[in-house]
Amino acid sequence: MNTQNREPLFEVAQLAMINLYTPKLEESIKFFEVMGMLVVHKDEEGSVYMRAYEDPYKYSLKLTPHHEAGLAKASWRATSPQALERRVEVLSKLPQGKGWVEPAYSRGKAYEFTSPDNHLFEIFFDVEYYQAEGDFVSKLNNRPQRRPLTGVPVRRLDHMNCLATDVDKNVDFFTEHLGFKVREFISNPDKSKAAAWLSVSPLVHEIAFMKDGLSDKCDPGRLHHIAYWFGDPQDLEYLSDALTELGIPIEAGPLKHGVSQAKCMYAIEPGGNRVELFGDTGYLIFDPTWKPVEWNVNDAEKSIIWYGGELPHSYFRYGTPVVEDKEIKPFY
Ligand SMILES: [Fe+2]
Repeated sequence: MNTQNREPLFEVAQLAMINLYTPKLEESIKFFEVMGMLVVHKDEEGSVYMRAYEDPYKYSLKLTPHHEAGLAKASWRATSPQALERRVEVLSKLPQGKGWVEPAYSRGKAYEFTSPDNHLFEIFFDVEYYQAEGDFVSKLNNRPQRRPLTGVPVRRLDHMNCLATDVDKNVDFFTEHLGFKVREFISNPDKSKAAAWLSVSPLVHEIAFMKDGLSDKCDPGRLHHIAYWFGDPQDLEYLSDALTELGIPIEAGPLKHGVSQAKCMYAIEPGGNRVELFGDTGYLIFDPTWKPVEWNVNDAEKSIIWYGGELPHSYFRYGTPVVEDKEIKPFY
């Protein structure tokens, strides 16, 4: 489907928060603390809320104890209260629309929906901004929180990547009903998509979908990774050094992506979820009639790793929840 000539729909503004399941809560918290993230809240269910120092709202990451790793939910902020109502009007008529949920910690009422692959999302508008106090106040007026002086601090949440049984179905849902634009994609010989990167902003993606290499062995709805942004590729080197000292597995990188051109690396946090770190932004898109960039599936390796190493065998197979896979050499 050619979505590029459709009247632009700017009703989803950004990926605001991600809720991950972790079977090792304390270790997961420590992992994100290495990246300078701050615990801001704990709720009565035992979930822990964390933030990066340039996240605008109170938190961007919620960690919920669970028997296995995976995506609990991701939260999108609408561009206005009216945009939220208009999206709910559309989503509520689809099988993926689930219903309103009550206000929760630091955000107002939200409407839940799923992807065609059953990843759980919500969309909301009202939110509380982070207000730094005491030593957390930055003298830099455009920085919501002072940059931490320990760890290798990430600046903000960047994007998420979901594994899918059928990439096209998920892409069509996000473009048609939520206004996302396809920026780059990998095509199979039959023209179906093996992977696609979508955004609502000049970033190349806030969400990506990739074919789950184990889709015949697991339930749909697995998470490939979440990503935080440093803004300086040198930080990838510092973090790699720190994670190696701590014995935390680095799956790939530091390296440079073909898609997005960003410098990046992938690590597996102790709960099992894959976390990507973006060293820089890559390129930005301002062209309103941007033609999605196509990569042939035979060039998939170059699209993921332009340079900096080989594409790990685990890349299209490891996701959370973790599925036993004898073909992956254990690295986690
Ligand atoms: Fe990514």
